[in-house]
Amino acid sequence: MSHERVETNIGLMAILVLLVISVAGLAEILPLFYIKDTTEPVDGLKPLTALQLEGRDIYIREGCNACHSQMVRPFRAETERYGHYSVAGEFVYDHPFLWGSKRTGPDLARVGGRYSDDWHRVHLINPRDVVPESNMPGYPWLAERTLDGDDTATKLSTMRTLGVPYSDADIEGASQSVAGKSELDALVAYLQNLGTAVSIRR
Ligand code: HEC
Repeated sequence: MSHERVETNIGLMAILVLLVISVAGLAEILPLFYIKDTTEPVDGLKPLTALQLEGRDIYIREGCNACHSQMVRPFRAETERYGHYSVAGEFVYDHPFLWGSKRTGPDLARVGGRYSDDWHRVHLINPRDVVPESNMPGYPWLAERTLDGDDTATKLSTMRTLGVPYSDADIEGASQSVAGKSELDALVAYLQNLGTAVSIRR
């Protein structure tokens, strides 16, 4: 009888549906804030250096994430190719996340240390010089543009507000440590750090 009342009363039905979804949603989402695996950095995870953080901003500015994901899924085909699957604790200092799902190019979550700095330099300026069949665009201007470091300290302290453990000394020295470096230096420094903090690489 009461079942029929719900099924014939759209208002009541809507309220009950909302209630069910809210409770179920909370049950799924709330624990994520308290489970250590998802909120605590993995052992060995360090905040990006000032230069690497500038490199990350260039990565975002140039839209690298439009073609590259940064998350190795827990499937055999992925771990054979890229190394250990990504875990939540690797990303706690990432703001915003660059996980992505569009893969015109390979996943980059564990690309750090796979190639030499020189390889990356040549590849970023003109990918065809090292991978003849590549359809990745070249980014030759990165080598010519120099960082002035004016905003670097502000970037680090903003990250600190978001929970990244930068010290006062990190922030004070930030601008100086990047000034005069090229955008290419910064981007390569960022790429070489990807996935390296973690001892669970293959
Ligand atoms: C239009 C899509 C596209 C964009 C945009 C793009 N890439 Fe690529 N990328 C590719 C493709 C395809 C490959 C595979 C061929 C190759 O190695 O060049 C690749 C390969 C790579 C590799 C080698 C990965 C490996 O494991 O061999 C790196 C590193 C890389 N890209 C970095 C970048 C960076 C940094 C940017 C932004 C400055 C960028 N890519 C922008 C498509 C793209």
